[in-house]
Amino acid sequence: MINVLKPDMPSVNQLLPYLKSMATSHQYTNFGPLVTEFEQRLLGVILSSKNNPKNLQCVTASSGTSALELALSAYQFPKGSRVIVPAFTFPATITAVINAGYQPLIVDVDAKSWLLTPDIAESIMQSVDARLILPVCALGLPQNLYLWTCFYKKFNIPVLIDAAAAIGGQSADEGINVVFSFHATKPLGIGEGGAVLSCDAEWLADVRTLSNFGFSSGQVKKIGTNAKLSEYHAAVGLAQLDRWHENVKWRTELAQNYFDQLGLAMFEFTMPNQQAIVPGVFCIAIENKAQQLCQQLKHCMIETRRWYQPILPYHCAFKPYVGSEPYVTADYLNESLVGLPFYRQINKKMVKKIISSIESLL
Ligand SMILES: Cc1ncc(COP(=O)(O)O)c(C=O)c1O
Repeated sequence: MINVLKPDMPSVNQLLPYLKSMATSHQYTNFGPLVTEFEQRLLGVILSSKNNPKNLQCVTASSGTSALELALSAYQFPKGSRVIVPAFTFPATITAVINAGYQPLIVDVDAKSWLLTPDIAESIMQSVDARLILPVCALGLPQNLYLWTCFYKKFNIPVLIDAAAAIGGQSADEGINVVFSFHATKPLGIGEGGAVLSCDAEWLADVRTLSNFGFSSGQVKKIGTNAKLSEYHAAVGLAQLDRWHENVKWRTELAQNYFDQLGLAMFEFTMPNQQAIVPGVFCIAIENKAQQLCQQLKHCMIETRRWYQPILPYHCAFKPYVGSEPYVTADYLNESLVGLPFYRQINKKMVKKIISSIESLL
């Protein structure tokens, strides 16, 4: 059986130096030295190649979901404030909004990029009094930071990008904050973990305070929770950063391998042109044939995953947040998108087998 995904984690030997340093410091959580080092190196190593604003900082959290909830709470909008979310995403995007006490509104995504774009947000703003836009880097595809910055300047509405699977490919800017996930299946997997990236030092300090029960100078000043990243997880994160370049290399090569072997006839079915900078998945969309394709590949002993299926409007818990407009692109993705095997051990021969099994369906 060719599996769909296998986490790429550091070996015991790669972890050992960090575990030894933790044993020496005797600090296991509460913003210890490994968490501090992880936060610094996340900025230095992953974001160094970008044109980032100089004042960018990051705060870690115990998961991507808790990072989203902390970030949303730190805005301190009144309860019930409107937050715009895309239909095509993982449920954590919307559950975080609900748990933070806001009122989400689910909107369709753009046909070309499969993302909630500034254009879509702008048209929603005509009829909805939104306090925040929460676009997602669906499948790790990056959001256009320049266009979101223009949107922020025009409307003065903040933007929080759920970049759970887009570390290395998504940055922040004034008014545009970003959340990452370090779940084991993500490109920078550490087991469970997340981070918030921002150039707003005061807002980010609130995120950190909220992650530690709301404590500030010995007193609880805001109602927070316990969402701190432990030193154990930071140890895995540091070992992952040591092998980051090698991680990026195999991911880029595997995505390229799929593209090279797909052939022109199938190119129209792949993910949008603007590929994830550090790919975590590889998908194709064949109109209304997702189920058929998954079954066919299963017969060939190839596992697949229908990412984000069903889309948000089709989960019964999210019915109150469905909008009045149809979900044309999200519906299409719901019925058409299939995630193909994507992990380190997939070689050219396996890619060939996967592609020839798909071609027979076209
Ligand atoms: C788009 C998106 N947002 C949020 C999350 C939640 O991240 P975590 O699993 O780290 O809580 C995920 C997880 O897959 C995700 O894909």
